[in-house]
Amino acid sequence: MRPVAEHYFAARPQSAHRAGLVRVVLPDIYLELRTDSGVFSPGRLDPGTRLLLEEGPAPPPEGDLLDLGCGYGPVACVLASRAPAATVWAVDVNERALRLCAGNAADAGLANVRCVPPDSPGLPARFAGIWSNPPVRIGKAPLHDLLRAWLARLAPGAQACLVMGRNLGADSLHYWLAAQGWPVTRLAARSGYRLLAVDYAERTPVTPP
Ligand SMILES: C[S@@+](CC[C@H](N)C(=O)[O-])C[C@H]1O[C@@H](n2cnc3c(N)ncnc32)[C@H](O)[C@@H]1O
Repeated sequence: MRPVAEHYFAARPQSAHRAGLVRVVLPDIYLELRTDSGVFSPGRLDPGTRLLLEEGPAPPPEGDLLDLGCGYGPVACVLASRAPAATVWAVDVNERALRLCAGNAADAGLANVRCVPPDSPGLPARFAGIWSNPPVRIGKAPLHDLLRAWLARLAPGAQACLVMGRNLGADSLHYWLAAQGWPVTRLAARSGYRLLAVDYAERTPVTPP
């Protein structure tokens, strides 16, 4: 029987380890990050993630920043490099991804990265910024629940930056966010990806039952 393909968001990936290395080359940063099977895009920096890191706004210099769905850590490590006085919370359900992210941050000398599961009691209540290449493959309703929960934790005046492929529903996500009452702007579009900025809303938008 053929093995069932494993999702990148499995909590405990069972696939045999296959070590890899991704070089993150940006105008301001060079990082070598270890990857493995069972995590998202282990062979190269995902083009959506690249758009987020190249065109997304600079992180605030301090405060608690969230990388929602950190994978092996490209977003968390770049944010931590760009904002050494900030604390970057790298959150993922995938334990293999969390271990890789923690190792990559340590190898890069980034002591300001905290890699934790989403239910970690240590996570702050509010974030000075949220960055995410979100897990679209979990399905539309779970994705909406995930974003609703974490966007509600933006600090007053803070912004979230989300990247998504157009073919994966970026434009319908844009529409859904706006319909929920979130101030949302398209910051950039490139190679089929959309970069969306979601601003703090004074009254947390709620979905009618
Ligand atoms: C599209 S990948 C992005 C990974 C990484 N940020 C990158 O750009 O390479 C989305 C990540 O979200 C994680 N994820 C899935 N469900 C999650 C949840 N409920 N909470 C946090 N992270 C989740 C997946 O395990 C995966 O690592």
